[in-house]
Amino acid sequence: MEVSQLKKAMFIIQIVLASLFTSSNSIMTSDDPSSLPGNFLFGTASSSYQFEGAYKSDGKGLNNWDVFAHEPGNIIDGSTGDIAVDHYHRYLEDIRLMESLGVNSYRFSISWARILPKGRFAEINMAGIHYYNRLINSLLQKGIQPFVTLTHFDIPQELEDRYGGWLSPKSQEDFGYFADICFRYFGDRVKYWVTFNEPNIQATLAYRWGEFPPARCSAPFGNCTLGDSEMEPFIVAHNMILSHATAVNIYRTNYQKEQGGIIGIVIHAAWFEPISDSLADELAAERAVSFFMSWFLDPIIFGKYPAEMIEILGSILPEFSRSDQEKLKKGLDFIGINHYTSYYVQDCILSICEPGKGITKTEGYYKQSSEKNGVPIGQPTDLEWLNVYPQGMEYMVTYVKERYNNTPMFITENGYGEKDDLKLKDEKPLEDLKRVEYMASHLSALLSAVRKGADVRGYFAWSLLDNFEWQFGYTERFGLHHVNFTTLKRTPKLSASWYKQFIAEHSIRTITDPDHPNLQQIY
Ligand SMILES: *[C@@H]1O[C@H](CO)[C@@H](O)[C@H](O)[C@H]1NC(C)=O
Ligand SMILES: *[C@@H]1O[C@H](CO)[C@@H](O)[C@H](O)[C@H]1NC(C)=O
Repeated sequence: MEVSQLKKAMFIIQIVLASLFTSSNSIMTSDDPSSLPGNFLFGTASSSYQFEGAYKSDGKGLNNWDVFAHEPGNIIDGSTGDIAVDHYHRYLEDIRLMESLGVNSYRFSISWARILPKGRFAEINMAGIHYYNRLINSLLQKGIQPFVTLTHFDIPQELEDRYGGWLSPKSQEDFGYFADICFRYFGDRVKYWVTFNEPNIQATLAYRWGEFPPARCSAPFGNCTLGDSEMEPFIVAHNMILSHATAVNIYRTNYQKEQGGIIGIVIHAAWFEPISDSLADELAAERAVSFFMSWFLDPIIFGKYPAEMIEILGSILPEFSRSDQEKLKKGLDFIGINHYTSYYVQDCILSICEPGKGITKTEGYYKQSSEKNGVPIGQPTDLEWLNVYPQGMEYMVTYVKERYNNTPMFITENGYGEKDDLKLKDEKPLEDLKRVEYMASHLSALLSAVRKGADVRGYFAWSLLDNFEWQFGYTERFGLHHVNFTTLKRTPKLSASWYKQFIAEHSIRTITDPDHPNLQQIY
């Protein structure tokens, strides 16, 4: 950005912030930076399929997303992640962007098929190991901690073809094998490990709605050639939970003591607000959280599925054997929360609901909606599912804190998306004021939860760059940096300048905090 543009941008930011922090809304007042712990991670997030490209380079095998995106009709704009934003070749440039933001961490995922082109059924691809070594070393040279996800929706296609991927318990062995290799090769330098990204989204989008590979579902949920929307999400979830446990056990037993890192899982955590103050709707909102999020976290932390799920689903829900329960005991070190938005929830057990998302038995008998009596829960955005409701961040973090005994948390994704509408092309895509407002209000809500005692240790903005947004291809932009998808040129948006300033203010004031003088060594 030119100097004059930057000045203008900063002026706009100040106005936005002034209006935010003098708002009468109580959660937005008094932003006290000293409430953040000294080693708080500020970063941006990404994932291998959405960023890397190089889909056949240097010995990488095909994964489920390579195959899915190449089938006509699966991606809205007919695009693929073959090139994506070419992070594989441009990671040094991207690290320079991170350096300029002043972040101290970077969340990325490892492409499983780049390391193991055919899972455990063939050799390790050393060129893949070398790529991640270069990435990790380059980050560390700039003081940026790698925060690494083992699988972010992509698995080697070989595993789908051989035994149906996550539908088979054999996936547990493959995931453990892959995790072991990652700990062995990278764990001397990687201190933050995530097993799965959003298994709750993956299980439902791939096996209930048929929108993610392997695109399995049944009527009335979707129109797929194969699948069972009422059974399969629970089978794959069960295998993912046990795969998580397998990887955690390997880490705990063979690596953690020596390497000194921590390991957790990332869950998609929307907040659910009862649509009325009736007891039935309040219970429905609780149920929604259970069926959506605690579905994964309860087994990993408590060794069993949420009571509401057991009661409603009965024999549909797989059971944990004695040895599974033993394996689950080692749980996790932290919970990663991807939070973007909130919904209203209406009970559908005592009352008859109109058709809509959530109303069936296997979804948990609640109707999910973004509005009440025609009024949206928060400012609408270009994206139908995304309304701006910053309070939801505080409520969700507080809920997780209470349900899971204040297990350490990281906000592993939070961000604002815009449609890449042709009509809007001339409308200054770099002046993303709405993204700045979104981030400022959500960080403010997060700080409020932290001041009230939530053990939150980091925040990752989704995303460093505009990128391949799954079934929406390149039609949605979430980046702090604009990417021209033809030239792949990266240009900072206003939100990048804003985030940089936010990080600088919150880090500097931590250093000068007289009550915690020893925090200086961290920054
Ligand atoms: C389901 O998909 C098939 C094959 O793609 C198509 O012919 C049919 O019209 C679809 N049915 C519905 C109800 O959309
Ligand atoms: C991308 O760059 C090309 C070449 O400079 C330009 O013609 C095009 O308008 C750019 N597209 C966007 C979306 O900025």
